[in-house]
Parts: sequence; C-alpha cells; structure tokens
Amino acid sequence: MTRAYQAAPDVDVITTTAEIAGFGSIAINAFVLHGAQPVLVDTGAVRDREEFMTTLRSVIDPADLRYIWLSHTDFDHIGCLSQLLAENRHLRVITTFLGVGILSLASPLPMERVLFVNPGQTITIGERAVTAIKPPVFDNPCTTGFYDSSSGTLFSSDCFGALLPSVPDDASELTCDELRQGQVFWATIDSPWVHDVKEGVFAASLDRWRSIEPRLVLSGHLPAAPGHMLARMLGSLAAVPTAERFVPPDQALLDEMLGRPA
Ligand SMILES: [Fe+2]
Ligand SMILES: [Fe+2]
Repeated sequence: MTRAYQAAPDVDVITTTAEIAGFGSIAINAFVLHGAQPVLVDTGAVRDREEFMTTLRSVIDPADLRYIWLSHTDFDHIGCLSQLLAENRHLRVITTFLGVGILSLASPLPMERVLFVNPGQTITIGERAVTAIKPPVFDNPCTTGFYDSSSGTLFSSDCFGALLPSVPDDASELTCDELRQGQVFWATIDSPWVHDVKEGVFAASLDRWRSIEPRLVLSGHLPAAPGHMLARMLGSLAAVPTAERFVPPDQALLDEMLGRPA
C-alpha cells in the first residue's frame, strides 16, 4: 500500500514497503518538496504507478510540480516519470548525462526539458539552493543526491537504506541495532563493491559527509531521519567493508521453496 506522511513542514514522503521474504522489509520512498517551485524527488516504483499517482495527488496537484529530481534510473525510482512528464508540460527533469543515456534505452527524455546537474554543482529552485552530491554508497553510476542548504534537507538516494523488521515513519523510532544491522545488510546487498574499496578511500568518502549538518536526512529506502542521526548512519556504513558478504539464494534453495524434489 502506498501512503504519504509529513517529514517536515515543507516535505512530504510518499512511501510503500517491499517485503522480501526471509530478509525483512524495506521502504521505497519518493519526496515532495513544497515551495515556490515544487520538486518531486524520484517517482515511485514501476509496479506501484497507479497507487503512487493517487497518493501524490493527496499531497500536491501534480500540475503544480516544476521539477523532478531523478536520483537514478532504477525501477524503484522511475515508475511515474513518463506519465508525469506527459501530463505536465511545465515539468523538467534534473538528472545527469548518464541518466539520460540509460533512460534513452527505455523511455527517452525530451531533451529540452532536461537539466544536467553534476555532483558539486549548485542550482537555485525557487527559494532553495540545492547542491548535487555523490552519496558514499550507491548502486547505479548516475546516482546523484543533494543538499538543500536553505532548508537543511539532505537527500541520499539509496544510501542509508535499511532492511528492517518493520518500517516506521521516523527512523529515530528504530533501535540502534535495528538501524545498524539493517543498513549494513542492505549495503552489502545493494552496493557489494564497498567490500573491495581501499579502507582509507571509503572512510574519506564518509568523512566528506560528516561535515554536513542537515536538519533532515532522506533516503529512498529508510524512513525520514532527523539530522542528528547522520553521524550514526555514517558509522553504520563504516562497518560495511568488513561485514560478511551477501550470498544470494541459489537454485537448490529455490527448488526447496517451490517444493521440487532434490
Ligand atoms: Fe538503486
Ligand atoms: Fe532504490
């Protein structure tokens, strides 16, 4: 079920939960940043398109949106992208050269409505000064998060996602163990390359985020978190390089699940 909740006076979360049998639950989030130039951050999962649009309409008239910030092109982030662009000719998509390239293989973007913003670059969206940043952990090379220095909102894309026993609306309701184990496990699944990065290099990428002092931390796959939790969440990621590698279920397990004789 897709639903909405408010994470800050100017931020609504549109969320659904994916249950992964044997592993836990994970949020799939998009965000509406209200303001003079309303922004939709990601557009839900392809499978949830109808529910997503219904829930989006409950927090904003999609005709009022002016930008979609597309964090990356995975199926859990691009669900309603084409529909929203078709229905609202004032809407522009903020992405990167690589994001456009990947989408050109499925659903090409109208280039006159694309805005390229690379990590390190700042744009003004209404009253917001938004700087694109590369999250320390990602699963797609076009991934771009942002820091909105006007409101103190930090958006991390898939980074900080967590597989959880259940998904609350506020990450501060999670116990320290739930958060840490959930984040470490998710990162070993979603970004297995972290195991192979030189320890100092990965630590430095986490350190670059420690200097941010956000009021709110948003992830595509974690309930909204108050800014003071950023240090704890970076601490979780610091444990990923030496965590146990994820080994996916194999055919023998699938046969067992399907009741096939060995
Ligand atoms: Fe992803
Ligand atoms: Fe994702």
